[in-house]
Amino acid sequence: MASPEPLRYQGGFGNQFASEAVPGVLPLGRNSPQKAAHGLYAELLSGSAFTAPRAENRRTWMYRRQPSVVVGGYAPYAQPWWKSGAADGVAAPPDPLRWAPTPVPEAEAQPLDFVDGLRSIVVNGDVDAQVGMAAHIAFINRSMTQRAFVNADGEMLLVPQQGTLMITTELGLLQVAPGEIALLPRGLAFKVAVDGPLRVYVCENHGAHFRLPELGPIGSNGLANPRDFQAPVAAFEPDAAPHELIKKYGGRLWAARSAASPFNVVGWHGNLAPLKYDTANFMTIGSISFDHPDPSIFTVLTSPSDTPGTANCDFVIFPPRWLVAEDTFRPPWYHRNLMSEFMGLVLGQYDAKPEGFRPGGASLHNCMVPHGPDADAFERASNAPLAPHKLDNTLAFMFESRYRFRPTEWAMNGGALDAAYADCWRNLKDGFQ
Ligand code: FE2
Repeated sequence: MASPEPLRYQGGFGNQFASEAVPGVLPLGRNSPQKAAHGLYAELLSGSAFTAPRAENRRTWMYRRQPSVVVGGYAPYAQPWWKSGAADGVAAPPDPLRWAPTPVPEAEAQPLDFVDGLRSIVVNGDVDAQVGMAAHIAFINRSMTQRAFVNADGEMLLVPQQGTLMITTELGLLQVAPGEIALLPRGLAFKVAVDGPLRVYVCENHGAHFRLPELGPIGSNGLANPRDFQAPVAAFEPDAAPHELIKKYGGRLWAARSAASPFNVVGWHGNLAPLKYDTANFMTIGSISFDHPDPSIFTVLTSPSDTPGTANCDFVIFPPRWLVAEDTFRPPWYHRNLMSEFMGLVLGQYDAKPEGFRPGGASLHNCMVPHGPDADAFERASNAPLAPHKLDNTLAFMFESRYRFRPTEWAMNGGALDAAYADCWRNLKDGFQ
C-alpha cells in the first residue's frame, strides 16, 4: 500500500473530504469528466438514497484504476457462525444473559482472519428490510492479505478489545487500538491486518447509518465532538495483486476472484468515509447535584429508526469519569426497559458488576428483562462515603436497540454462557423496616 508513515488522517464527522494519493487525480468543478485524469475510472458510492435530506446524504466519488464492477461470479462461502436477522437466532428465556470472554485460538491450531474468526452473539431485525443489527465478537490470529471483505448488509462498527488492527479500505488506511473505534460504511471494501491475537466487538448495523446524536440543551459542544473523528487519506496498492473478494449479501457470505486489488483508488472526495474515533476524546457529562442520569448521556453514535427518539441502535460508552453526586445511589438504578441492551467490556471493571463481567465478555438484558447492580455492588454503594470518586481505567460499552435480540446457537451452547449469572442478585435482601 502506498501510504505515508505514520498514518495521516482528515478530521471531521460527515465532512466533505478530498484526498489524492497522486496530485491532480481529482477533477475540479465536476465529478465525471469525459476522461478522468491519469486514465482512471470515476465511480460513485452512495451510502444513502439519492434523495435523502442533505443532513443525512452520504456519498463519495472514487477515481480508480479499475471500477469495482469487474468482479463477478460469486459462489457461496461457508461461514456458519456469522448470523443475520432475528430469524437466525434461537429462542431464549427472558433471563439476563452473560458470557465469559472466549480466548483467541492459537493460529497454528485454528487460523482465523476477520471473516472466518467472527462469531455472532445476538441478532435482531431483518437485513433485507434494512432494520436491526447484530453484535458479534471477532477472534483474529492472522491477517487478510490478498483477501477483501465487502458488507452489503450494513455498516460495521469495530470496538477492539485486545490488539491493534490495521484496516486497509478502498479510501485509505486506519490504525485502531483498544479505546478507539472504527466505523466502516456499508458496501466499502476493506481488509484487516493484525500483529498478534485480537478480540474485537463488532456491531453490524442493518438500519440507518450511524450519526452523532442531537445535543438539545447540552448545546453546540460535548459528548463526541465531530472534529475528533478521523478519515483516512487516499492510498492504493501499487502492485494491484489479485484478491479473493468475500461479500456479505442477504445474510449470507459469497466469494469471487478479482484479478485486481480492490484497493486501487488513487483519489476520492465525499462525505461517505471510514472513520476512527478515540473514546478518550468523549466529553462525559454527569450529575453535579443528585441522581443518576439516564445512560443516554453517554451516546457516542446513534442509528435512528422511523420512530423519533427510538433508536435502531445506539452506541453508548461508559468511560472513565468522576462521580460527585450527593445523596445518590451512584451506580445504575434497577430497571427494565423497552430498549434491549447488549454490553461489552473493553478494559477494567463496570461499576454495577465488579465481578463476573470481564473484559472480552458480554451481557444481554433484553426488552423488559429486569437488571441492575449485583448484591455486593448494591451493599457497597448504599454505604459508601459520597466523596468525589474517580472511576478510572475502565471502558464498558452498549449496543442498545429497539428490537429484541435473539442469541445465536453458538452464544447459547458454545461454552461461554454464564449459567449462574442470575445468582448475582440472589442475596439482595428485603430490608423493609
Ligand atoms: Fe440497563
